[in-house]
Amino acid sequence: MPTRILTGITTSGTPHLGNYAGAIRPAIAASLKPGTESFYFLADYHSLIKIADPARVQRSTLEIAATWLAAGLNPDKVWFYRQSDIPQIPELTWLLTCVAGKGLLNRAHAYKAAVDINIAKQEDEDAGITAGLFMYPVLMAADIVLFGANKVPVGRDQIQHIEMARDFAARFNHLYGEHLVLPEAVIEESVATLPGLDGRKMSKSYDNTIPLFSSKAELKKLIAGIVTDSRLPGEPKDPDNSHLFSLYQAFSSAEQSAAFRQALINGLSWGEAKQALLETIDTEVAPMREKYEALMAKPEQIERQLQHGAEKARAIAEPLLKDLRYAVGLRNLGAVASKTKNVVEKKALPVFKQYRENDGKFYFKLLSAEGDLLLQSLAFDTPKDAGKTIADLKSGVAAISELDSVAVFAHGVSAIDIHQAIDELRAAAEDKA
Ligand code: TRP
Repeated sequence: MPTRILTGITTSGTPHLGNYAGAIRPAIAASLKPGTESFYFLADYHSLIKIADPARVQRSTLEIAATWLAAGLNPDKVWFYRQSDIPQIPELTWLLTCVAGKGLLNRAHAYKAAVDINIAKQEDEDAGITAGLFMYPVLMAADIVLFGANKVPVGRDQIQHIEMARDFAARFNHLYGEHLVLPEAVIEESVATLPGLDGRKMSKSYDNTIPLFSSKAELKKLIAGIVTDSRLPGEPKDPDNSHLFSLYQAFSSAEQSAAFRQALINGLSWGEAKQALLETIDTEVAPMREKYEALMAKPEQIERQLQHGAEKARAIAEPLLKDLRYAVGLRNLGAVASKTKNVVEKKALPVFKQYRENDGKFYFKLLSAEGDLLLQSLAFDTPKDAGKTIADLKSGVAAISELDSVAVFAHGVSAIDIHQAIDELRAAAEDKA
């Protein structure tokens, strides 16, 4: 079985260099590894938790889809789809909601952070918090388990969500049988966390990002704004404490970085360093930028790709959902009616009963279909011994003619009666199998 890798990208912004180096580039590389099946989707339902701006949601969905395609994702090799095209996701969300512990959701970091802010402001704990934010981890769990994902590459901030998904899936399996795969978070230690313009992690929330597909002129302007220390041209620079160098590293080979490092130590000016960084980034980005612009000019082509991806994804999702609906009891009523009839018509069978007496010993008896005693065992020291004798009788290992050391026939019952009763039991068991 190939390993299934799945990740979602919330459609709430414009991709920046940090998204590219930290998530998109490694994900596309991973999708090419043999023995894996990759699922990448646009988490547009998730975006509604953060944004109530329809145009922005649509715009971001388009930009992110175009980015992944421009960056080299091959939609014929992977499952690339939009969350809202898969109705099985919200359907599974409900099934998982019904097994999810509310207490566990209370402890979700994002929800707790929102509550803490309210408490600090001396407001009602849940002021302004939607049930959508509260339920976020359940929707995410549905995204993951619907496709039987084994591995979910995520940032550290998402580990708790994967653990919750495991918890919901395990609970579901416990109640309804083994249907769901328990996912694992994968944290890529080697993947770059890019610093932003101010040196903190590049992130929308810090407003320090460089959009992946800025024009070269914009890129130049943004790079000029990267904060450096005040060492003059000719003075040695410290590459290990320079986020400009970290950015350079993320877009260059080991040899290039080593050469750049040496140049900084030798006193390269920050101005020249910025020019070198611009060229390095642009070398990697320019070919993608061209594809991106071509794709953005033809949104209907992207839409077609997504529709195709959704079809592929639903072909996996629907059979599982079908099983799950049945498992929880959302069933065709016609089938129930005929089953009930079978039960009514099914004829009664002889039965072995095992029990313990006041003397502390273990016994069994065989009753006929009508409830009459056929066979009464002698005492056994353990229930296991009694059970073993029953099993041997049923399977024919124990000869009925040699029963007298362990059991006695009831008054008026012959060995033939016992044979008949056991044959009936065996036939019924075979029917069932
Ligand atoms: N919550 C993720 C994020 O904000 C996005 C996401 C939604 C996701 N569903 C997912 C990630 C399923 C991995 C798997 O980054």
